[in-house]
Amino acid sequence: MSCKKVYITTPIYYVNDIAHIGHAYTTIIADMLARYSRMVGLDTFFLTGTDEHGQKIEHSALAKGKTPQEYADEISLSFKNLWDDFDISYDKFIRTTDEAHKIGVQKAFIKMMEHGDIYKDVYKGHYCISCETFFPKSQLVDDEFCPECGRATIIVEEESYFFRLSKYQDKLLAWYAENPNSILPKSKRNEVIRFVEGGLEDLSITRTSFDWGVKLPSELNDPKHVMYVWLDALMNYLTALGYGTDEKNIGYWPARVHLIGKDILRFHAIYWPAFLMSLELPLPKHIAAHGWWTKDGVKMSKSKGNVVNPKEVADAYGLDNFRYFMLREVPFGGDGDFSQKALIDRINSDLGNDLGNLLNRLIGMSEKYFDGTVECDRVAQYYQDELNEVDASLDKLEPLLFEMQIHRYLEELWRPLSVANKAIDKYQPWTLMKESKEDEAMALNGLIAAILAKVAVMLAPVMPETAQKIALALGFTISYDSWNSLIVSKELPKPFKITKIPPLFPRIEEPLLGHPPSEPEEPVKTEKPKSSKESETGIALIGIDQFFQTSIKVGTVIKAEEVEGSKKLLLLQVDIAEEAPRQVVAGIKEWYSAESMLGTQVCIVANLKPAKLMGITSEGMILAARDAHGLSLIRPESHKVNGTKIG
Ligand code: MSP
Repeated sequence: MSCKKVYITTPIYYVNDIAHIGHAYTTIIADMLARYSRMVGLDTFFLTGTDEHGQKIEHSALAKGKTPQEYADEISLSFKNLWDDFDISYDKFIRTTDEAHKIGVQKAFIKMMEHGDIYKDVYKGHYCISCETFFPKSQLVDDEFCPECGRATIIVEEESYFFRLSKYQDKLLAWYAENPNSILPKSKRNEVIRFVEGGLEDLSITRTSFDWGVKLPSELNDPKHVMYVWLDALMNYLTALGYGTDEKNIGYWPARVHLIGKDILRFHAIYWPAFLMSLELPLPKHIAAHGWWTKDGVKMSKSKGNVVNPKEVADAYGLDNFRYFMLREVPFGGDGDFSQKALIDRINSDLGNDLGNLLNRLIGMSEKYFDGTVECDRVAQYYQDELNEVDASLDKLEPLLFEMQIHRYLEELWRPLSVANKAIDKYQPWTLMKESKEDEAMALNGLIAAILAKVAVMLAPVMPETAQKIALALGFTISYDSWNSLIVSKELPKPFKITKIPPLFPRIEEPLLGHPPSEPEEPVKTEKPKSSKESETGIALIGIDQFFQTSIKVGTVIKAEEVEGSKKLLLLQVDIAEEAPRQVVAGIKEWYSAESMLGTQVCIVANLKPAKLMGITSEGMILAARDAHGLSLIRPESHKVNGTKIG
């Protein structure tokens, strides 16, 4: 990264409602970037806060029988408390009702005026209170409704000060052209360019019909005007650094990145740079707009009662897991859907299977074979290819981060884990030990430890607590120094004694929020074999020879896909060391995704008569246990050679 100071912002949140997962999403991304910047030694300032003025807030306060200030105090505090609960690492929480902010906004107003960019006129047109936006008639739906939120607009005719936005049209277009990464993702940048090319009208920046806002500077002697809420709000990015008052932090400007949702892109990518040009200040490096979260495919709204409370989710599933899910689940800029199922899949599969199990395996192997000691000095001798592959992935990470390819960052970070898991399956430490190749087995443990340590460092900004726990097990702490040695200098951990820690991601079988436990399935009715006796418990007793008539074998899933049109079935190809893999149709999709099955081992009944399920032949049955809490596959505790018989 080029600049030493890094300034990262979230939008300031309206205080007309409490936080939901959409707000948490923006804040978590910003927090991740801030944590990363600090870890790599950059002087970082992370800002969040609340947007407290405007007609919408005034209305909401009145509806609750409170003054706008009382109401704003209450909701602003609820945001701050939530971010504190979430351990969000902000450096400043700004409120637009802060005195210093108001002074800064007034100074900016005067400066823009001196620059010849503000004039007084009469505004006549439509206004959407919910979006706090003026719309020309040409943009309205059916001449009346807001094109953004669909609510009815009001007609406003009042004296107003205007900002000469039209004057900045060409300068803005030049800025977008010269800075291809100014607006991310790039698809959004194109939308903005098209909008600006369509022509910009001057912007009304004061209101007289209500009172709840920053007053005009007293020297203008025009007390009936308050500032337009978006001018007031956008200025927070500067006033938080002391603009117009105590400017001790102003050196953090310009922002490295303003994180926002796509709905407020126009304000940030058009109005804000134009205001900054008028103030003769540098423009932000990136304006990054993320997509919109829905719940189970439906837009969240209070009236539908489907608003997801981020605190409830984090309390139930773990804060770090929630953070990982939000950042991994959707490509930045795209819309995302929140469902407990998707969250559980990520926890069980990416976190549990790929990461947690790897650490457990390392702990198990190093305790069993080497009394917990791990040494990396021979890793390069035996596993240089694997190390190269891991370092190549880690090198790709940082650029992805500030290009906002956060899901790709995590995807890439998982590659080293798959290198590690594959290495265990390929080199089999238990076989190495049997063959007395202790050096090689130790080096393999060293490789796994090195991979886990490096991944933990780069995971720390996303899952700070989990990364620290992994580091603890591996005898180090996450810090600038560990980043510098493990990632920058590509060093391997020093010898250490492993510390056993409880499993990081206990498997989750059932949604943990607001769902009744699912009913156990009807017991399958089978006919009793004629020759069998009955035990005292009523279960038919069989002889051992009868048991051995069932051939159960261990196999590895080498291909897994969903069965089209089925909610329950997965189609698996299982290698049980026969000429061809066995094709098995398994009713496990509600609990296991196709992706999570790939490469894992299962136990299959191998001598069942083939049966057809949804027209597909199934050549075996996978062993599983199901109770009221869900379904778990029965698998060997550690890797077994494909085709191994069970019994
Ligand atoms: N106050 C303005 C921002 C001023 S910044 C100078 C505002 N506030 S907001 O509370 O309505 O929204 C804040 C952020 O939350 C926006 O970035 C918005 O995109 C985001 N989200 C609100 N609902 C959301 C979802 N359902 N999904 C994702 N993010 C969403 O706008």
